[in-house]
Amino acid sequence: MKVAIILHTQSGRTSELARKIAEVFRNASHEVDIYMLRTVGNVTPRSTKFEIKNSPVLTDEDWVIFAAPVWAFKASPVIMKYFATLKNLKGKKVMNIVTKSLPFDWTGGTQALASMNSETETSNGDTLQGIIVQSYIKISADKQTEVANKALKAFIE
Ligand SMILES: Cc1cc2nc3c(=O)[nH]c(=O)nc-3n(C[C@H](O)[C@H](O)[C@H](O)COP(=O)(O)O)c2cc1C
Repeated sequence: MKVAIILHTQSGRTSELARKIAEVFRNASHEVDIYMLRTVGNVTPRSTKFEIKNSPVLTDEDWVIFAAPVWAFKASPVIMKYFATLKNLKGKKVMNIVTKSLPFDWTGGTQALASMNSETETSNGDTLQGIIVQSYIKISADKQTEVANKALKAFIE
């Protein structure tokens, strides 16, 4: 399948996870492109005064993964701003993944995932159950592999 991973990262944990996901999907013979959203302007949890420099346009991808950190109990404002540019995801399987550092899903994970799911569902994406990835510091290699395998399994089923 043709797969796109579109992500926002600030400190690199989400992008590191995305690279592992790409590796696992490629090892299963899928074609994967990673798009990292880049911004100009002041990006803070509640800021809207920034622009996304590269808004990837999805075309013939079969599967799409959106990944972003939780900021101030919500999804990153960058991924949410990107969603405003989304066209129709009809016919695509989609999964949203959030990374976070505080324990418990209710410290932003559930809310962030719900708002991302709402966007991809509104765009008619066949939205699979998303994944909340919590880790205090770095996401361990084992955890990254576990998430990647879980995601692959969900897309295949
Ligand atoms: C401004 C800011 C706000 C954050 N707010 C939360 C939060 O509400 N809940 C949480 O669990 N983690 C929070 N975090 C931690 C990040 O979600 C976590 O470190 C994430 O994995 C970082 O991803 P990145 O390295 O891809 O940028 C916050 C981090 C930043 C920088």
